[in-house]
Amino acid sequence: MSKLTVYLESDARRPELSTADPALMAGHLAHVGILFERWTASTPLPASGDGDAVLAAYAAPVEALKEARCFRSVDVMRVTPATEGVTALRAKFLDEHTHDEDEARFFVEGSGAFYIHLDRRVFRVVCEAGDLLSVPAGTPHWFDMGPRPRFTTIRFFTRPEGWIASPTGDTIAARFPLFEPAAVDAA
Ligand SMILES: [Fe+2]
Repeated sequence: MSKLTVYLESDARRPELSTADPALMAGHLAHVGILFERWTASTPLPASGDGDAVLAAYAAPVEALKEARCFRSVDVMRVTPATEGVTALRAKFLDEHTHDEDEARFFVEGSGAFYIHLDRRVFRVVCEAGDLLSVPAGTPHWFDMGPRPRFTTIRFFTRPEGWIASPTGDTIAARFPLFEPAAVDAA
């Protein structure tokens, strides 16, 4: 289930706010400049996860977002527990970092958790199939794909090198709960 949990940066134990209502999630996130939307496929998705078919199913919202945010290209990324180097891939984005361009991801299937650090708070956004999240350029954040990663996302790019991660050096991520899908669903 998609879910927003907001913590003060100083307290990872008692959230200020928690909601699984997509409209409330979008509202709270918009208040701090983060785009969150729910998209619906125009055609049934192929079980194969074929990238062209995925992009065709979401062609209208993909084009609208490219136009609105000046993204020049997209691709489809699929990660499963069998993906080569998946443990290192998870670790790569677990420390707080920034990018020179917006990090926009649409979840076609599966799930993952973004942790966005701004306004002296951490906005933890568990994204599921149908969720679009865009982290603004320069905003400190980290991403946890969980211990058994499984997701397909459409990624948006302004320029090929633009989303290279720059570590902030802040160890804040270690204080916040990892993404454990079963635990999140039970919370
Ligand atoms: Fe990132």
